[in-house]
Formats: sequence, structure tokens, C-alpha cells
Amino acid sequence: MTLSAVGIALFSVIAYLSGDPARSRIPIDPEIATHYLSVVAHALPASLALLIGPFQFATPLRNSFPRVHRILGRVYMVSIVFATIAAVFATAFTLDGVPVQVGFTLLIAAWTYTLVQGYRTIRRGQVQLHRIWMIRNYSLTFAAVLLRAFLGLGLALQRSFPGLTFAEIYSSSVWASVLICVIVPEYFILQRSPAPRAAPRGRRENTRSTNAAAIPVRSR
Ligand code: HEM
Repeated sequence: MTLSAVGIALFSVIAYLSGDPARSRIPIDPEIATHYLSVVAHALPASLALLIGPFQFATPLRNSFPRVHRILGRVYMVSIVFATIAAVFATAFTLDGVPVQVGFTLLIAAWTYTLVQGYRTIRRGQVQLHRIWMIRNYSLTFAAVLLRAFLGLGLALQRSFPGLTFAEIYSSSVWASVLICVIVPEYFILQRSPAPRAAPRGRRENTRSTNAAAIPVRSR
């Protein structure tokens, strides 16, 4: 996971460091002067966030260097804030169609919500909840890796299925990566969360009496 994140982050950055719209990997609308700018302003901080993420989850690193974890955490969050603002414009300007715009809009909403929750929980000292929200948030960041993997797979399949259009491959890749990155972390979060403990005896009795009161006399 770390290798693919680092690989995609570096691969993504290189094309946009030159500032040359001709080197963009997605079509740029020549009519909209800020389209290319929005893609660059998105790609650079988003790549930084993708790069930082895996190191934040490394327990030995977190335990030995908590200050580094805090500093990198702030850089990660600020990078996502910039990347998200730029992504709003990139989504509005994209030439890749409405299904892609809808997929990216939902991703922007989920990316923002999970980041806000990750920040709020750690400010309140709720470390376990912070961990859970940041797993969700980084999983969404990782959608960038899956998207490119699916896109590569789709383009390879296109050789055998020439009827497939680029738009079909691209929009399916966006949607598949978003769905997988929303569902998979839930599995890991549930697997590793402690099983819910039974309520204390006194409270259980209270609950029972409340429920009993709710049962109509006829059925008792
Ligand atoms: C998870 C939230 C993300 C959202 C909502 C998002 C949104 C977008 C949008 C709307 C575009 C323009 C696509 C188009 O016009 O077809 C785009 C392009 C791009 N994004 Fe993201 N993105 C996200 C995460 C990332 C991450 C983590 C990276 C890090 C590698 C990244 C790197 C790029 C790059 C490099 C492009 C330009 C296209 C390319 O060269 O592949 N994005 N993104």
C-alpha cells in the first residue's frame, strides 16, 4: 500500500511540476484559463497527502516520534484542505462528463467530512475515534491510487474489447474506486474494534422494564 501510494504520488507530481498544460494527463479546456491551474493546485497538495498518509499509520513511528506525527498530521490536513478547494473547481471544469462529476463531488464531500471528524476527535482527545476517522479519510485519499489502477486495467481491456469508450472506462474507474474506498475501511474498523460490552445489569433491567411498559396489555 505504501509503495503504491508513494509511486502514484511521485508519478502524479512529475507531470504537473513543469506548469505546461500540454503535459497534463487529462484534457484541459482551453476556454477556461483557470482549469489547468485548478488541476495543478489540486494535484500537488493531494500527492503530498497521499505520500504522508502511510507514515502516520506506522505505530512504531507514532510512538517513538509523537511530535513528528503531530507535525505531519497538520501538513496532511492542510494539504487536503487546499487539494479539496482546488478539486471543487477541477470537478466543475472537467471535460470528462456528468457521471465523473457526480462521483468526484461525493468524494469531495466524504473527504471533507472525514477530515473534519478526524480533526474534531483529536482536539477532544478521543484517540480511538480519531484513528477510525483518519482510516476512513486516508482510504478516500487512496482512491487516487485505485482510480489509476482501474484506469490502467480498463485501458488494457480496451485492446480486447474495442467497443469500450474512454468515457465508460474512466467513469467506471472513478465510481469503483470511490465505492471500494468507502466500504473496505469499514471492514477493518469493525474487525479491530472491541466487541460492544453488555450494559451493566441495573441498566439492563431498567431497559427491560421500559420495554415491558411499551408492550400492549393484550399481548402480555
Ligand atoms: C480523494 C479525493 C480526491 C478528489 C475528490 C479528487 C478530484 C479530482 C478531480 C475532479 C480531478 C480532475 C479530473 C478530471 O478532470 O477528469 C482530479 C485530477 C487529479 N487528481 Fe485528484 N482527487 C482526489 C484525490 C487525489 C489524490 C490523493 C491525488 C494524489 C495523487 C490526486 C491527484 C490528481 C491528479 C494528478 C490529477 C490530474 C489527472 C491525472 O494526472 O491523473 N487526487 N482529481
